[in-house]
Amino acid sequence: MPILKKEMSRDRDSQVLPKVPVPPLKQTLDTYLKCVQHLTNEEQFKKTKAIVEKFGAPGGVGEVLQKKLLQRREKTANWVSDYWLEDMYLNNRLALPVNSSPVMVFPKQTFRDHKDALRFAARLIRGVLDYKALIDARALPVDFARGQLAGTPLCMEQYYRLFTSYRYPGLKTDTLKVHMNGASSEPEHIIVACKNQFFVLDVVANSKQLNETEILSQLEKIMKMAGNAEERLPPFGILTSDGRTEWAQAREALTKDQTNRDSLALIESCLCVVCLDEPSGLEPRDTTRALLMLHGGGREKNGANRWYDKSLQFVVGLDGVCGVVCEHSPFEGIVLVQCSEFVMKYITGSPCKMAGATSVRELPAPRRLLWKCNPHLHGLLAVSGDRLQRLVNNLDMDVFKFKVYGKEFIKSQKMSPDAFIQVALQLGFYKCSGRLVSTYESASIRRFQEGRVDNIRSATPEALAFVKSMTDERATFADSEKLKRLRDAINAQTNYTIAAITGMAIDNHLLGLLRTAKELNMEKPEIFCDETYVASNQFILSTSQVPTTVEMFCCYGPVVPNGYGACYNPQSDHIIFCVSSFWENTETSSAVFVKALNEGLLEIRDLCNRSSAAATKLAEGSQGTGQPHKSGK
Ligand code: COA
Repeated sequence: MPILKKEMSRDRDSQVLPKVPVPPLKQTLDTYLKCVQHLTNEEQFKKTKAIVEKFGAPGGVGEVLQKKLLQRREKTANWVSDYWLEDMYLNNRLALPVNSSPVMVFPKQTFRDHKDALRFAARLIRGVLDYKALIDARALPVDFARGQLAGTPLCMEQYYRLFTSYRYPGLKTDTLKVHMNGASSEPEHIIVACKNQFFVLDVVANSKQLNETEILSQLEKIMKMAGNAEERLPPFGILTSDGRTEWAQAREALTKDQTNRDSLALIESCLCVVCLDEPSGLEPRDTTRALLMLHGGGREKNGANRWYDKSLQFVVGLDGVCGVVCEHSPFEGIVLVQCSEFVMKYITGSPCKMAGATSVRELPAPRRLLWKCNPHLHGLLAVSGDRLQRLVNNLDMDVFKFKVYGKEFIKSQKMSPDAFIQVALQLGFYKCSGRLVSTYESASIRRFQEGRVDNIRSATPEALAFVKSMTDERATFADSEKLKRLRDAINAQTNYTIAAITGMAIDNHLLGLLRTAKELNMEKPEIFCDETYVASNQFILSTSQVPTTVEMFCCYGPVVPNGYGACYNPQSDHIIFCVSSFWENTETSSAVFVKALNEGLLEIRDLCNRSSAAATKLAEGSQGTGQPHKSGK
């Protein structure tokens, strides 16, 4: 589904998508065992197998939970979405930057001066408003699946959350609030962050939206106001970069004051945040831009020029470092890409609207958001800043453009590009650590009502057999055997993908069973306390395909301390990989992983080429001996 084909515009309600299924219990349990066996030692696996069999036995706990889950499916539009949202995002206490919020990195822009950067920002805001108008008018074309099982319409719900969501921090769990009512009488506004100050930019004046020139003029006023050192307030945005519980505590302290409550209310109800960033002073390579987008470069750079709870933050750096930071809970990267591409195409494609804009209204200056600080809050700002700094220092990022081949070569081998890349990632990982680990690949389930994602467990037994044959030092495996194993691994991966996108993967199902037990106040079933289950949910490799049709790329951080984040963007003749890990972990290194991945991709290509050459030779040979010459030459 990654590259979305646009079709005729349709109202979102005109298509009724099926409900996501609940897979048969036995099927999930069998698949679970198959997924973990080769990643677990023999003794532990024996234990796990016995626990799983007991759970799935006729009349066992599994059957009770399955029945309840089937009833839940009847009663809800999507039986898993709430469970999944809480488990994946809202219950997670880690800081949003790096750990949760993915980013889109735009190509480096060249701005002659501040005014040029503001012109870009004004155009970007106009693009955002046009895109929002399409959404509000329900005029966005329905997406249709591409790739595997192409052609079915996809659920559009996520788009309606782009500009209407806010993630509130909570002491135990966060809350995602979505205001679906577009008919609000509130004037619409954007929050502009500049020099760690926040400003309200009303985008409607006298019932008419601001044009590009008017927005530019407002941005100029903001920049001037932000530059006034005497009026500068402490960098409150940094609190939102902290752990969720810490930020929730700080927010409680903040809301004791009416001024702060008013400022929070304006931020929480905005359409999006636009961050006008100071130059970072760093060389704007891909990797550096990715880092700056992920964490703003910390307290000393633009780390506090953010409000991480808000779903969309468009960043315009005065040095040309631009992109989008996304709070992940309301929507997936694919929807973020659609929005980002629309805005980028608007910026680069539309003729400058400035010249034609004859009516420029004299507008009141945007308002600076005020904050009341006290020694306690000052202390909190300092510790949040320290923690962000640690995250900044810890992130080891490597953006790697593999230029030797892309999707077209893989397709020419009659293999699924996504499955091929996943197998290559497994090979890369195995080369680094001599083992395979629990791997997550996001699979879209937007074919179903309110569908989000499930997990493709890419570390398949077939992938293990393949990577072993490729790395065997005794060189015991002939090319024909390696190729067979490659094809087996790619087939296994493709089959898992098809199962996942049709709602038959195991992760959501197991989560549903676990949550049902909790709702029934049952003791946590043994299967979920088992060491194997716990380990199988530590995704040391967290991967995702996020393809783009405009020059830009997506990246994110690892999801566990000893893991890698690996986001990839396959293009016809190259593939962009964004590999992340943590410096504090001695087992991981993004550069080492990238090197191994590069080697692996080359070795697989060589294997395919050698095998094709051998097959051609064989065919020619058999033609030569088997067929009589027609001519007498
Ligand atoms: N031979 C030749 N071509 C093949 C092939 C084969 N054996 N198998 C597939 N292809 C082609 C497909 O037809 C498709 O062609 P297209 O580019 O013309 O559409 C292309 O290769 C890509 O298909 P494939 O690589 O198999 O994968 P996919 O596009 O179906 O993607 C997933 C698989 C899992 C990535 C996708 O289903 C998905 O779920 N994407 C969403 C991921 C997501 O949510 N990311 C964001 C998370 S925040």
